[in-house]
Amino acid sequence: MHKNKGAIYYGDYLQLPKLLDSQLPLSRKYADETNGECHDEMLFIVVHQVYELWFKQILHDLNAILKTFQQDYVPESQLSSVVQKLERIKKVQALLIGQFDVLETMTPMDFLEFRDLLIPASGFQSVQFREIEIKLGLNTGDRQHVDREFFLGRLSESDRNKLTSLESSPSLLKLLEVWLERVPFTNMRNFNFWAEYQKSIDGILHDDHETILKNSAHLSETQKNIQLENLEITKSTFRSLFDEKAHEELINSKQRKLSQKAILNALFILLYRDESILALPFQVLTAMMDIDENFTTWRYRHALLAQRMLGTKIGTGGSSGHQYLKRAADNNRVFIDLFNLSTFLIPRSRLPVLPKDVKEQLNFNV
Ligand code: HEM
Repeated sequence: MHKNKGAIYYGDYLQLPKLLDSQLPLSRKYADETNGECHDEMLFIVVHQVYELWFKQILHDLNAILKTFQQDYVPESQLSSVVQKLERIKKVQALLIGQFDVLETMTPMDFLEFRDLLIPASGFQSVQFREIEIKLGLNTGDRQHVDREFFLGRLSESDRNKLTSLESSPSLLKLLEVWLERVPFTNMRNFNFWAEYQKSIDGILHDDHETILKNSAHLSETQKNIQLENLEITKSTFRSLFDEKAHEELINSKQRKLSQKAILNALFILLYRDESILALPFQVLTAMMDIDENFTTWRYRHALLAQRMLGTKIGTGGSSGHQYLKRAADNNRVFIDLFNLSTFLIPRSRLPVLPKDVKEQLNFNV
């Protein structure tokens, strides 16, 4: 514990003179006889600055999480500290989403009073926002061509270089993949878990097939065939889980991000979350999904804000505005593979029972 080394003054500690002297509305700077200072520009600046401060806190926690996952193995005690930090990021995200309510007290007409003064500046140039995206696992290469142009083209050279070089460091998504690959779940001594799991799936799909046939008395032949065809699609989705080639194809077409081994081990964690040793790994995966979902919610809220303020006008950074932001919300997902694992979940009653020695074997550090 640190000891007090001298009297501290509140305003000095928090650097308040600097902080509170950093709101400089352009409409004040350029005020003349016709156009005075716009009252709501102060709100616009304060809200953006508060966002940037919270981005700073997110990065602070994210950096600590990345450091933990960069180790050759992650002791359980450190995993709980990762969960605590992920939970904090979630709380901050809730504030980030809520702050749009405050900004929306500014009407579109009031925004129009000073909007032109901002061109060509834009949230596009928020380096911290991009840093969060990259550190989580979104690279410029993942973006559609037109978005990539905007992403890089609107930044100063030094910011662009900084972000480009950041992309070569391992992201949380990459480190999660390596960590998941390390957990030795796929083959346990003489117990081939995945063979047992496949048997359960075959049983479930067989039951589904029987159910369709049993309930088809009142269905036309076409309706029955549609249901059977849908069942075939489900079967082939399950098969793709174990088919290395199919998995590679999904990665190449950017429909999957994590390796097959990582996906199978993540699925094991989700299926056996009730085993006490898997409780923390399960919390890690859940928190990552929550963070992904919160960012997506933020993006949709921000897209709606842009539509409310601008309608179909283009943004100050030159994008198509609302349309661009909505597309970014749909496409820029990081932990999407974890969400899609729900496809492969089965009821607890159909889970293969783990032999006693396998349960004991689960007691290890990864
Ligand atoms: C009146 C309020 C706002 C409007 C009308 C607005 C509008 C827009 C538009 C149209 C874009 C797309 C780029 C462009 O063409 O400029 C954009 C991007 C962005 N804005 Fe805002 N924005 C507002 C407030 C905010 C606030 C408070 C933040 C918080 C930091 C923010 C952060 C961002 C970020 C990070 C991007 C880049 C998003 C991406 O590329 O996925 N914006 N904004």
